[in-house]
Amino acid sequence: MAAYPKISENTSGKVSWQSPSNIAIIKYWGKYGNQLPQNASLSLTLSEAHTKTSVAYTYGEGNVSFRFEGKENDAFRNKIVRFIDKIMDDMPFLQEMDLVIESENTFPHSSGIASSASAMSALAMCFCDIEKAVFGKLEGDAFLKKASHIARLGSGSASRSVYPHFALWGKHVDVSNSDNHYAIMPSDVHPIFKDFHDDILIISAAEKSVSSTAGHALMEGNPFATARYEQAQNRLRQLLICMQEGDIHAFGKIAEDEAMTLHALMMCSDPSYVLMKPDTLTAIERIRAFRERTGSPCYFTLDAGPNIHLLYPHEVSEEINTFIEEELIELCDNGRIIRDRVGPGPQKS
Ligand code: PMV
Repeated sequence: MAAYPKISENTSGKVSWQSPSNIAIIKYWGKYGNQLPQNASLSLTLSEAHTKTSVAYTYGEGNVSFRFEGKENDAFRNKIVRFIDKIMDDMPFLQEMDLVIESENTFPHSSGIASSASAMSALAMCFCDIEKAVFGKLEGDAFLKKASHIARLGSGSASRSVYPHFALWGKHVDVSNSDNHYAIMPSDVHPIFKDFHDDILIISAAEKSVSSTAGHALMEGNPFATARYEQAQNRLRQLLICMQEGDIHAFGKIAEDEAMTLHALMMCSDPSYVLMKPDTLTAIERIRAFRERTGSPCYFTLDAGPNIHLLYPHEVSEEINTFIEEELIELCDNGRIIRDRVGPGPQKS
C-alpha cells in the first residue's frame, strides 16, 4: 500500500474533469489477475462521446454520494463504492474523505454506446487531481500513468482514455515502455490519424445482451484463446508500422480484421452469442462494396455490440457523408449517428 500522511481536518475542495470514450483498433478481449490484459490493445481517443464528472471532497469517513444527470442513482453509486474499494491500496486517503460525486454523459441516452471507459477515466482523473491537490507531487507523465492505472481497475478499456489521440495498453515486446498495468501514448504516429473520423452508426440502441465482463470470462474456455492472443500481438506490431507510415489502407484492413475476430470469438464461445444484427452485416457489405467501387479509404470497426464505427480520414469526409446519407443512414435506429473523431483526451473544467 502506498504511504500517505494523514489528511488534515480542514481538507476540502472540488475537482471536475471531462473524459472521452475510445474505440479499440486492436481489441482487448480476455483478461487475467487483477484486470490485466491477455494481449496489448491500441485505441483512438474520441472527442464527442464523453463523461463530465465532478468530485467535491471534505475530511470525513469514506461516505460517497452520487448523482447521475442530476438524479441520485444507487446502482451507479454501488459501482463507484466497489471501485473505490478496489483502488484503496493505491489511494488509501479516499477513506478519510467524504465524496460528493456528480456525473453526466454527453452522448445520447440509450444509444447502445458503452460509457464505462469515459466514466471510469473521468473519475480516475478526478481522484488523481485530489491526490495532487492534497499531497502535491503527482505531475505530468506520473499523473497520467497513475490515472490510467486507476481507470484500468474500474474498466480495462478506460485505461486508454486518459491520453490524447491514441493509447496503447498492455505489454508488447516492440514497445519498451508498454505495460499491462497502465496505458501509454504510442510515439511517431503519422499526423493523418490525428483528425481521423469515427462516425458511430447506431444500428440498435438496445442494451447489449452479454456484458463485457461475461465476454472476457468466456475467453478462458475458448479453444482459440492462445492463438488469438498471439495474433493480437502480431497485428499490433503491423498496426504500429502502418500508423507510423500513414498507411490508411493497411490500418483499415487491420481494424476490420480485428472487429470480425472479436465477434467470431463471441460466436465460438460456449455458450455462443451473437451481438451483430442483420443490419450490421448489411452495413458491412455496403461499406466493402463502396470501397471496392470508389477506392475511398472508408473502413469499419465494431465494439462489443451491433453498432458500426465508420473510420476514415478527414480529407474524404464530404464523399463519405454522401455515402452515409445514400446507403447507411436507413440502417440506423431512427437514423441515429454519432459523429465523432479523434480528440485531445480528458480536459479539466
Ligand atoms: O473495458 P471492458 O472490460 O468493457 O472491455 C472492453 C472490450 C472491448 O470494448 C470489446 C474492446 C476494447 O479493447 O475496448
